Amino acid sequence: MKNWNVRKAIVAREDMAEEHRLSQTLSWPHLIALGVGAIVGTGILTLTGVGAAKAGPAVILSFAIAGLICAFAALAYAEMATMYPAAGSAYTYSYVVYGELVAWIVGWSLILEYSLVVSAVAVGWSGYAAGFLASLGAALPTELIQGPELGGIVNLPAIFIIAAVAGLLIYGTRESANVNAILVVVKLLALALFVVVALPFFDIGNFQPFMPYGFPRSGPSGSEVGVMAAAAIIFFAFYGFDAIATAAEETKDPDRDLGIGIVGSMILCVLIYMAVAGAAIGALVYTRFADSPEPLALILREIGQPWAASLLGAAAVIALPTVILAFFYGQSRIFFTMARDGLLPTSLARVSSRGTPVRITIFTAVIVAIIAGIFPLADIAALANAGTLTAFIAVAACMLAMRRREPDAPRKFTTPLPWVVGIVAILGCAYLFWSLPIKTQQYFLVWNVIGLFVYWLFGSRHAERARDARAA
Ligand code: ALA
Repeated sequence: MKNWNVRKAIVAREDMAEEHRLSQTLSWPHLIALGVGAIVGTGILTLTGVGAAKAGPAVILSFAIAGLICAFAALAYAEMATMYPAAGSAYTYSYVVYGELVAWIVGWSLILEYSLVVSAVAVGWSGYAAGFLASLGAALPTELIQGPELGGIVNLPAIFIIAAVAGLLIYGTRESANVNAILVVVKLLALALFVVVALPFFDIGNFQPFMPYGFPRSGPSGSEVGVMAAAAIIFFAFYGFDAIATAAEETKDPDRDLGIGIVGSMILCVLIYMAVAGAAIGALVYTRFADSPEPLALILREIGQPWAASLLGAAAVIALPTVILAFFYGQSRIFFTMARDGLLPTSLARVSSRGTPVRITIFTAVIVAIIAGIFPLADIAALANAGTLTAFIAVAACMLAMRRREPDAPRKFTTPLPWVVGIVAILGCAYLFWSLPIKTQQYFLVWNVIGLFVYWLFGSRHAERARDARAA
């Protein structure tokens, strides 16, 4: 591991081998759609209930805290993404700023984040899809919609949706972004419908008592409560804008488009969530939808609007795949970049004649389909948050390090009050990480120990050979 602190030099696009160049086809409307497509998903549709069970009406505070911390991290992301518009996002910035070992840890965390989000949302989608099919009189056998831990054999719809999205990504990035934009509109209309239908039932009395379980994480391992315990889980609902940064290399005008894409989609989502969470709590006392797998639909049914509940359910089935698409896209690009650097097998980093990395997409699809086919949703989502928080801390630290190291380097997007924003992002993410279930933190540690072994046995040597080959 003698090269643990080797830093990566950014290779200009013109100097890359043809087979390693991604096509530049995206501009900012695509990026905002990619961002909102990645952010609005299982989090707001399902975790609002989990959060309410942990925080009571103060779940609205959990939303605000998680959103604010994410917004600060998003600013740091935007600065780094415009400084280094290369594929790989947090992994690439860490390689440039802190060297190979830190980059490996961040890349390994991103693999966890992206794979688990794809798997988690596929499992969530499967729940809605199975319900939808059942309402059409075509119910699937229970063994085929749940993994072994919940008494089934395999989650077939989850595997199906992953295969479908993988096919779209192999077909082409541009085509995928266009389909995504249409589905994003469906998703936003469904949330707008929820707010409009639920608001007339708003009762301020539902906000009392406001904070029944206190503020910090508390309670026995496995069933922790409190505003921060809820925020640590609800955090899942906010990320996704980082998937935009992984598209940097494929953006036509990265200097302008990345900043607009990241900050724009983040602001839009914070506003939408506050409206949805406020309308939800106001419409129905939280204990009646806490822990429901479909809280928003349940609220609509409880207030006597079943037609709206059905429309919301149908929109979820149609539009949740946008989240899978965006994270799948990010995942294949992280794998691709790590393989291009030699930290993972280089043969995976080959671009097809359509300009998309086919092998890595298929490889990713197989892994996330296995996870989605077998494991339950809650465990997958909490662990995804641990990986994401690690990546966010790394990006904010990279932004601050570059401010010190190269204060005068040209920055196309500059973070306002960088030291305040950077430090709040780092401390906020660390506090959210600490507020996660203890079991999740332990799993995350095990994942990283495995990662360090892989780096030691394969990544370190292979990356050195890849560097020598590039230099020759
Ligand atoms: N933010 C994404 C979601 O809520 C991961 O589904």
